[in-house]
Amino acid sequence: MSPFELNGKTILVTGSSSGLGKQTAITASQYGARVVITGRNEQRLQGTFNALQGEGHLQIVADLTIQADIDRLVAGLPLLNGVVYSTGISDLSPARFISRKVIAETFGISFDASVLLTAGILGKKKLVKGNSSIVFISSLSTRYAFIGGAMYIAAKAALEAYARVLALELAPRGTRVNCVAPAFVRTPMLDETAVQSSQAVVEKIEQLQLLGFGDPVDVANTIIFFLSDASKWVSGTSLVLGGGLNVQLTNKDAPVPSSK
Ligand SMILES: NC(=O)c1ccc[n+]([C@@H]2O[C@H](COP(=O)([O-])OP(=O)(O)OC[C@H]3O[C@@H](n4cnc5c(N)ncnc54)[C@H](OP(=O)(O)O)[C@@H]3O)[C@@H](O)[C@H]2O)c1
Repeated sequence: MSPFELNGKTILVTGSSSGLGKQTAITASQYGARVVITGRNEQRLQGTFNALQGEGHLQIVADLTIQADIDRLVAGLPLLNGVVYSTGISDLSPARFISRKVIAETFGISFDASVLLTAGILGKKKLVKGNSSIVFISSLSTRYAFIGGAMYIAAKAALEAYARVLALELAPRGTRVNCVAPAFVRTPMLDETAVQSSQAVVEKIEQLQLLGFGDPVDVANTIIFFLSDASKWVSGTSLVLGGGLNVQLTNKDAPVPSSK
């Protein structure tokens, strides 16, 4: 039996109507999990649901910036073995344009939603005691900042700090808590970045990622590791999925030393 399989596990994936959450839900179902998917857009969520392998999956439409929706989602959940938080928005705001509204919008979905849903899940005892796993999708930008990303990056950094505390609090009950911090991956969020900045910026980023842009399945496969028993001794970490960016950020064009 492979330690990576998810047979018998029930996994909630937020933000699963699109991008990384969608791929994670599909891949988890291929590894044998029963999956609960959630997002705002009913049509896109149905698209993910149709792509799931196996049976017994659930879909619950919810806007996680609305507390009543979080409460309804939690009430509808079966007992879970794992949760993956993949909600997020891509918003670029140069420092001089940051307002209370911008802070509230970015943190509302990128931080508050995951924290409040976790509180609801733990409060209503929807996560099994013993071997269970929580995974947050952070971002490599918490290590390599980009101009205009102040609120997005701050919210992700806050989420990573929160996850480290959660790992301490939940270790005694056997729950692991980890983050993945991807560089740029080909999803609708990347298309949005191209619109908000420019195609030239996106091309520059692609050059910096020595292995190119990631595919959603590259992130999903790593999350499967964190959900599965293969990671049963790993908690409190944030794993960089950097496409080589973290290894040699600027040396791509460095001259090769000539041999003497
Ligand atoms: N793509 C990348 O290059 C990249 C890199 C690093 C980190 N990340 C992080 O990975 C996560 C997923 O990104 P992605 O590229 O998959 O983005 P995406 O394709 O835009 O998907 C975002 C998901 O979040 C959901 N969402 C947004 N606002 C919501 C709300 N108020 N309530 C409930 N759900 C909401 C969306 O649901 P609807 O479809 O209903 O709107 C969608 O399912 C994000 O946290 C992002 O910051 C992405």
